[in-house]
Amino acid sequence: MYYSETIVEEVRTRNDIVEVVSGYVRLQKKGGRYWGLCPFHNEKSPSFSVNGDMQVYHCFGCGAGGNVYTFVMNYENYSFPEAVRMLAERAGVELPQEEDSGEARSKESRRARLLAVNKAAAQFFYYQLRSPHGEIGYQYLKKRELSDETMHRFGLGFAGKNGAHLVQYLRKKGFEDELIQEAGLARHSEKDGGMLSQFWNRVMYPIQDINNRVIGFGGRVMGDGEPKYLNSPETPVFDKRRNLYGLNYARRARCGNIILCEGYMDVIAMHQAGFTQAVASLGTAFTAEQAALLRRYTENVLLAYDSDGAGVKAALRAVGILREAGLTGKIINMQPYKDPDEFMKGLGREAFEERIGQAENSFFFEVRILQGQFNMEDPEEKTKFHREIAKKLCEFSEDVERDNYLQAVAEKYYIGIENLRRLVARYAAGTGGAKPLERPKSGIQSKKDPEENAKRSQRLLITWISGEPKLYGKIKKYISPEDFTVEIYRKVAERLFPELEKGEINPGGIVSMFEDGEEQKEAAALFSALIPKLDTQQEREKAFHEILLTVKKNSYQYHLSHMGADVSALARAIEGKKALEELAGTHISLD
Ligand code: GTP
Ligand code: MN
Repeated sequence: MYYSETIVEEVRTRNDIVEVVSGYVRLQKKGGRYWGLCPFHNEKSPSFSVNGDMQVYHCFGCGAGGNVYTFVMNYENYSFPEAVRMLAERAGVELPQEEDSGEARSKESRRARLLAVNKAAAQFFYYQLRSPHGEIGYQYLKKRELSDETMHRFGLGFAGKNGAHLVQYLRKKGFEDELIQEAGLARHSEKDGGMLSQFWNRVMYPIQDINNRVIGFGGRVMGDGEPKYLNSPETPVFDKRRNLYGLNYARRARCGNIILCEGYMDVIAMHQAGFTQAVASLGTAFTAEQAALLRRYTENVLLAYDSDGAGVKAALRAVGILREAGLTGKIINMQPYKDPDEFMKGLGREAFEERIGQAENSFFFEVRILQGQFNMEDPEEKTKFHREIAKKLCEFSEDVERDNYLQAVAEKYYIGIENLRRLVARYAAGTGGAKPLERPKSGIQSKKDPEENAKRSQRLLITWISGEPKLYGKIKKYISPEDFTVEIYRKVAERLFPELEKGEINPGGIVSMFEDGEEQKEAAALFSALIPKLDTQQEREKAFHEILLTVKKNSYQYHLSHMGADVSALARAIEGKKALEELAGTHISLD
């Protein structure tokens, strides 16, 4: 479905970017724009800015940026038409009716087709489980104490012994073999009608993204076969690093924490017991991307990993990743059971609630596991253990926090507090001490790299005149779109300058004219430069003048060096030189 430019613009202008982003990110107003923690990378201090006047966002940390469409596409993993539909609905704009013709369907993106075939397969498996073919699957789940309601909620299904049925069903629904293969639902085969179903005699767990779309499957074998779990391969819609099982429900639990488990079955058992904040990674180890995802919903993550050696190892890894992401991690003790599923069956909901209350701080957890590696009877080993503690303490970047932990751990393990403090100081000095905090780069600091400096001046100029459009009249004599030597910047200027002429600028709309996400980022960055905060008008005028000169000088040099390839460059260079000389001798007031 393709929407007209008019309707796309209407939907965009009816959705204020600050309001939309506020629905996902905590924003604070500071200096004419809003700031928050970037949802697209891990950071501890805000470098993500949203500008209501320009209707763009830009992150000074990772470079993410764009307009309200780019934001929801990136945040929600939406395609462009999906973003249009969502924002239209949000603002109450009626969209032209979609036609369900064959042509319209073939135009749908590959992603949309993959989601459609997954959805159809999930429906097939769902009905199988509830049919005579699926009786063994149903009995298996019943034996594992799942209620019908739970099975329904998680859309559980069954892949029968006759794998041909799924392929037949999907073909009848109009899905091509190639798509079915790409989704990982079947493989090419010489017999079996050309296609062999991937999942066979397994209970099926559809994996949904946060918008409840089926992006893949996990299939568990009945009994003791190998492999125990078979998962869909990665596809354009199934990114195992960036999704979490159960998060579509957990995100709405709003109980102040999220519980991270290892298995699908753990998540399901937890939800059935009322802990709807439980999620699990998807057959792979927990990733930094998943931590960033969690951070959208909570600051506190409780680990409910298996109590065996492998589980402890996985928990240690996860704890480090959580800490990197700025999340607080705590470990729930599952003993004497193996995992949350078995715990729930053995001791039940209230006991688990108690365990949540007793969850162990991740630092103490790490130290406790560490201690197990040393023989405390041996003074030398004991010293090594203390050194390891000191090293770990150095990882805290905040002095107060580090000292609080230092005191607590010294007390717990009977270490002389001053000795430990000295040890920490020694390691801190060796490693250069605490990690520096991230800060947005300041706009005017001139860097050594002249090219980057020229680019920065071009961004500053665009942002500055877009924020104070009346300045355009004063500079248009000297500056034209050709002075912007980065191609995207020039394209933006070509659109922006006529708008400035008319006195009606529309940066968010300008970003829309770029289709490529990378270009949208660059365009948004152009409207998001940090204008220097200077005390006096004189200083501001001087800064503005310097920016103009830098832009002009760079343009002159650029055209000079391109004269060989482009005849018009000579004329531009000559003109540029004249304008530069005139500009150098002109005072431009900011009033
Ligand atoms: P149940 O025996 O059904 O209770 O499984 P579990 O939830 O206790 O799973 P387990 O602790 O064995 O594994 C945890 C998670 O690891 C599972 O949910 C799967 O995502 C993944 N996993 C387990 N076994 C396999 C396997 O054989 N292959 C793959 N790819 N993933 C597996
Ligand atoms: Mn289990």
